[in-house]
Amino acid sequence: MVIVIDFGAQYNQLIARRVRETQVFSELLPFDTPVEEIRRRQPQAIILSGGPASVYDPCAPQPDPALFDLGVPILGICYGMQLMAHMLGGTVRRAERREYGPAELKLAAGTGMDGRLLDGFESGNRVWMSHGDLVLTAPPGFSVLASTANTPIAAMADPARRLYAVQFHPEVSHTPLGKLVFENFLHKIAGLGRDWTPASIVSTAVASVQREVGDGQAIVALSGGVDSAVAALIAHRAIGDRLHAIFVDHGLLREHEAEEVQEAFRRTGLRLTVVDASQRFLEKLAGVRDPEKKRRIVGREFIKAFEEKAREIGRVDYLVQGTLYPDVIESGSRTAAVIKTHHNVGGLPKRMRLRVVEPLRYLFKDEVRRVALELGLPPAIAWRQPFPGPGLAVRIIGAVTAEKLAVLRRADAIVRAEIDRYMKDTGFSFPAKSAEGLQSPPVSQYFAVLPDLRSVGVMGDSRTYGRTIVIRAVTTDDFMTADWTRLPADLLARMSARITNEVPGVNRVVYDITPKPPGTVEWE
Ligand code: XMP
Repeated sequence: MVIVIDFGAQYNQLIARRVRETQVFSELLPFDTPVEEIRRRQPQAIILSGGPASVYDPCAPQPDPALFDLGVPILGICYGMQLMAHMLGGTVRRAERREYGPAELKLAAGTGMDGRLLDGFESGNRVWMSHGDLVLTAPPGFSVLASTANTPIAAMADPARRLYAVQFHPEVSHTPLGKLVFENFLHKIAGLGRDWTPASIVSTAVASVQREVGDGQAIVALSGGVDSAVAALIAHRAIGDRLHAIFVDHGLLREHEAEEVQEAFRRTGLRLTVVDASQRFLEKLAGVRDPEKKRRIVGREFIKAFEEKAREIGRVDYLVQGTLYPDVIESGSRTAAVIKTHHNVGGLPKRMRLRVVEPLRYLFKDEVRRVALELGLPPAIAWRQPFPGPGLAVRIIGAVTAEKLAVLRRADAIVRAEIDRYMKDTGFSFPAKSAEGLQSPPVSQYFAVLPDLRSVGVMGDSRTYGRTIVIRAVTTDDFMTADWTRLPADLLARMSARITNEVPGVNRVVYDITPKPPGTVEWE
């Protein structure tokens, strides 16, 4: 396994992900993790991340110098390279001006085996720079592997001590050959194998749930999303029938979604209890217009419905949750289990005095999707779009009613079917097997919204006063920011025609052209 030491750069999770993409397990640890703790974990390689500080800042984050004596191969990136230079006897200077953007790499001649870090690169290759300081002279023992017009040392190495560093950012997509730096460092230099595969992820997670739960009883809430589905299946492999899965159908799901989830699980042998609570949710939501209130009501009712069912099951000690690695990292916690404040299970463990088990706490989302395929879940669940916990309640603006739910469900199904078809026609498909590669989908999330609005229209010879449907389609890497997708006009026209023809009561369709920020992806 590889430890990525975090010096606070924006892109650090990306480094851990790039390492995982070369099929090596990686963990992100804070810069002040004691060196004994690092040694105890027996990493086979260490990466020092970038960060916003300058090595000369009075409170610049620094690792324990003993790190360099562990005998483990180390790769420094950006600030990580400057630290290496500074701590090992080189010099670091403030650059005349901050360099931010693309640069052309110039490889040093005659580096031979020393230059293995940049195997596959050629002079002229583009790399991404983002730094205010630079390394002026390399520490004793190091040779310079490459430079750029503004950066005399863009990469350096001391192969005898297996210390390597790059000033540019190999983790970002703006460095097109960046992946090679990780491949070369991890596989050629550190000699690591490729054993972080969906199959090994499953067996590691299963063993860890077995250790944690022992002969206890556990419960899991299925939401319809991929995270809770995978967490449940892993726990099921680990403890068999001592796991009870509960699926609360709050009646706010998309068309056919509840059936799809039940069908997918029926074949797995998981003990699944379905609670149809849709009537109860509708009653509680009646007349409620405030988005936050809706969210609170759905959350509260969900917990109630879940608890009632759990009581029938009897003794339960553990709650299995699908918390992912980014939530664990972002909580800033190193060892304590962190509970994702997901609307539907937040608050549950405490109320029911349950201990939390998180089989996915080391996984990124794309890894969970591949594990889903590995576990035999259908691609429709493995690649399911993000969907808010409160479901369609937050895509109906104003009060939720059964009639509005029916309108939105139908319109949403048309939007999704048409955009799915468009993506397929453009040659895009989601992998059906865990080992297949994935290009980013041209549209990241797409759905319909029902605003609280009526407008005048005409149908045949008569005036109509009908509902409006909003189409929302966004393209994004991380959902923190997003742009509206430039869908072809023909596709928009087809969706508009189908919705107004096929969904009774709708006489107008509009397309939301707001990026995030200033909008959010969802309307509530
Ligand atoms: P916003 O609307 O904040 O959404 O731009 C960003 C992403 O998060 C999803 N989302 C949720 N996911 N529970 C979830 O699990 C929620 O309550 C929730 N609200 C928004 C949203 O669909 C988008 O992908």
